[in-house]
Amino acid sequence: MDFKSLAKEYGTPLYVYDFDYIEKQFNSLKEAFKARKSLICYAAKANSNLSVLKHVANLGAGCDCVSIGEVKRALYAGVAKYKIIFSGVGKRDEEIQEALKEDILMINLESEEEMHRVEMIAKELNKIARISIRVNPNIDPKTHPYISTGLHENKFGVDLDSAKRMYIYAKKSAYLDPVGTHFHIGSQITDINPFKEASKVLADLVRNLKSLDIEIKFFDIGGGIGIRYKDESTIQPYDYVQAIFENLSGLDVTVTCEPGRFLVGNSGYFLTKVLYEKRNEDKRFVIVDGAMNDLIRPTLYSAYHEIELVGSNNEQISKADIVGPICESGDFFAKNIELPQTKHNDLLVIKSAGAYGFTMSSNYNTRGRAAEVALQNGKSRVIRARETFEDMIAKEVPYL
Ligand code: LLP
Repeated sequence: MDFKSLAKEYGTPLYVYDFDYIEKQFNSLKEAFKARKSLICYAAKANSNLSVLKHVANLGAGCDCVSIGEVKRALYAGVAKYKIIFSGVGKRDEEIQEALKEDILMINLESEEEMHRVEMIAKELNKIARISIRVNPNIDPKTHPYISTGLHENKFGVDLDSAKRMYIYAKKSAYLDPVGTHFHIGSQITDINPFKEASKVLADLVRNLKSLDIEIKFFDIGGGIGIRYKDESTIQPYDYVQAIFENLSGLDVTVTCEPGRFLVGNSGYFLTKVLYEKRNEDKRFVIVDGAMNDLIRPTLYSAYHEIELVGSNNEQISKADIVGPICESGDFFAKNIELPQTKHNDLLVIKSAGAYGFTMSSNYNTRGRAAEVALQNGKSRVIRARETFEDMIAKEVPYL
């Protein structure tokens, strides 16, 4: 990939996404699912740029959304409404209303209280709400605690007994139609066993519900497939899908999954330029023009992202911290990595930045968010312009 030309043409800091890679990942997963009815609902939170959403929609994906904003993005980008799922632990009344009016595939309930609100709102609108229930199976996904979601100590979903009660209630309600069941136990999972265990628990639940005359049509296994940032051994799509399928015998369900990182994580590169280097007695700092407001994963989760100095043949290598210009010690991309000596305007590429990079970015320190560029069939195009100062202050009112 010609990072230098991209940086020259579009400036830095810059996000670049390889759309061909996204397509390859999507197809590998779809292929793995082919023995059964399946629906891949891309988790928009990983990267919700409209072009990315449109790209996956064109491939046949639906969307897993976690706010009405994401639902609207998905619709706007051309995702079919009957492929959109609305999840999240806390949905506002207006969000529920809009989701019902848009007639999306289903609303994923995360508490009994929420079920009653959805029922009330559906009644007001004289609609029947298709729902699924997020079950928290109390399984340890063995990932970073901040991105673990399937343990009872996490705020997500409901336990099995509550789920059963909710299904029985929903079945009787004139305004609820229980069509799906759901789990999502965490993110960046590299061990297949938690997926096996969770799908077994849910499959048993679906059988149990069947005996109560409650037919579950969508078996939603969430997202969470890990990717390689460094040297992780990751789960292959075929093994992942088999681990789920082996629990589904006798069940006629559409298997739904919600991958985010798997589809876009390794499609993304964050390009940033060296401003200067500085040293003190103990340390060498490479100060770059990107910062934690652009890519917060190293700060927030101590996440590793591979960093490469582009086109340098400088053989003077030593340890350095790669840091941004923000007034926080947490503003770093890497610590103590081996890097050749750099000079002003040298280009660094931070890899695996396609998921939870731009979507978690902010204007902290009044820094405009980076531009985003898509690469497809050997051509590049801007899919989000760089934010200007005027963009950043547009909503503010400086008068008394
Ligand atoms: N479905 C649900 C209900 C989710 O909550 C998530 C992610 C996904 C699907 C997609 O998970 P994935 O396939 O991308 O692992 N910001 C963190 C990750 C947070 C994940 C939140 N939920 C990070 O940068 O690692």
